This record gives sequence, C-alpha cells and structure tokens, in this order.
Amino acid sequence: MTDRTPLMVGNWKLNLDHHQGIQLVQKLAWSLKDAEHDYEAVEVAVAPSFTSLRSVQTLIDADELGIKLSSQDISSHAKGAYTGEVSAEQLTALGVDFAIVGHSERRDYHGESDTIVGAKVAAAIAAGITPILCVGEKLEVRQAGEHVSLTLSQIDGALEGLSAEQVADVVVAYEPVWAIGTGEVATPEDAQEMAEAIRARVAETVDPDVAAGMRILYGGSVKADNVAAIMAKPDVDGALVGGASLVVEQFAAIAGFR
Ligand code: G3P
Repeated sequence: MTDRTPLMVGNWKLNLDHHQGIQLVQKLAWSLKDAEHDYEAVEVAVAPSFTSLRSVQTLIDADELGIKLSSQDISSHAKGAYTGEVSAEQLTALGVDFAIVGHSERRDYHGESDTIVGAKVAAAIAAGITPILCVGEKLEVRQAGEHVSLTLSQIDGALEGLSAEQVADVVVAYEPVWAIGTGEVATPEDAQEMAEAIRARVAETVDPDVAAGMRILYGGSVKADNVAAIMAKPDVDGALVGGASLVVEQFAAIAGFR
C-alpha cells in the first residue's frame, strides 16, 4: 500500500473551443457529483487548449468544483522574444495546477528533445506547477525489445540536474506511442512493467523515498471498460486520457474507477 493519491487527467488535445470546454467541465462536474466523487481520494484534472484555460478556471473557481486544471504544454523560457510560447508564470497566474510536458505529439511534431523537455519540467516546478512528464516508446522500439531502456533514457534526460526535492514534484505519464489514439491498449502487465521500471530508476538515480511517492500514470486508449484493470496494478497511480476525456460519461466513469 502507498499513500499516492490516484490522478486522472483528461488531455483534450486540439479539441473544443472555450464555450465547448466550459460545457464539458460543467457536465463532468454534475456527473461526478451524482456519483458522489471524492476528489481527495481520486484527483481529477482537465487539460484544455491555452485559449480555454481562463474560461475553465473561472468556472472551476466560481462553482468551487474540485476539478483541477492542466495546460498541455509550457515554455522553458520565462519571458522575451519567444513568439507563441506561454510561460510558467503566465500559467500560474491562471491558477494552473499541472502542465503536460514532453507529450509524444510534442516530441514528434515539434522536435522536442529530452533536453527541452527537461527545461520545461524545471520551469514548471520553479513556478509551482506540477509537471506531468510524458515518456514512452514507439512501436518499432518495443518490437526491438528496447522499450524499457528507451523510456528510462527519457526519464534520465528529463530529470537530469534536478534535485530530489524538485523530482518530488514530478508526475510521470507512461504513454506508449503505439497505444495513443489507436484503440491499442497496452496490457495492464505492460503498464506495470514500465511503471515499476521507472520507479526503480528514480529510486536509484534520485532517491528511494521520492520514487516511492512518485505518481506514475498510464496513457494510451484508456476507456471506462479497461481502466480498472490498469489501476489494479501496484505501480500505476492514474491515467492520462485523450479521446475518452472528451466524452463526459466515459471520463466520469474513468475517474470513479473503483
Ligand atoms: O495524453 C493522452 C494520450 O496521448 C492518450 O490518448 O486518445 O489514446 O486516450 P488516447
């Protein structure tokens, strides 16, 4: 048994304008209220586009919803001539709790290296935002049997230079790229294998207590009907959910997996 509070995060990706985002959060809150969701027992967060953060945050605050707020990315820069970037300080001012960092779609389509991802992790922590550090292998890497070593190298790269105190603020999300948006779910055993390996690596390179307390999420085609089996694994502490987080009934059921 651990005292790691499960965390369910809905990554909306490039979907929904701010009107639609508000509606989704309102319906999600109603649904979770009906289910008597205990937000302290299972944390729930949504990650809208930057353009919707303000609206969603206003709703969450006004109605005192227990839902937390995440951005989908964060700049590694504090300010200056970085067109299109959004800084940690700007996100803090919006009341953002979490920032997804190093999602495979950022790594693939925007060339984010482990070094850049590491700088973003550090920027988030410095501003009091909890980074959700995404790692995970592509299909060919898994087929070559190198999924664990590749994923651990992403962990090493992103956490390099951080103190144990800083790493204690990190949430990790293991998202095998071949399972994202494909309907292909890693087996609960696959998720456990990697979560256990990540925890062992952090224990070895950072600190055993920090590793024991670190929340490790699984992401990749998580749905209401497969979440319980994944969550039953001892080293899996939650889920980072894409497609199913856009469907109220699905995400509410995922949040109440037990
Ligand atoms: O960040 C969540 C993600 O990439 C998984 O997406 O649609 O497979 O749940 P999905």
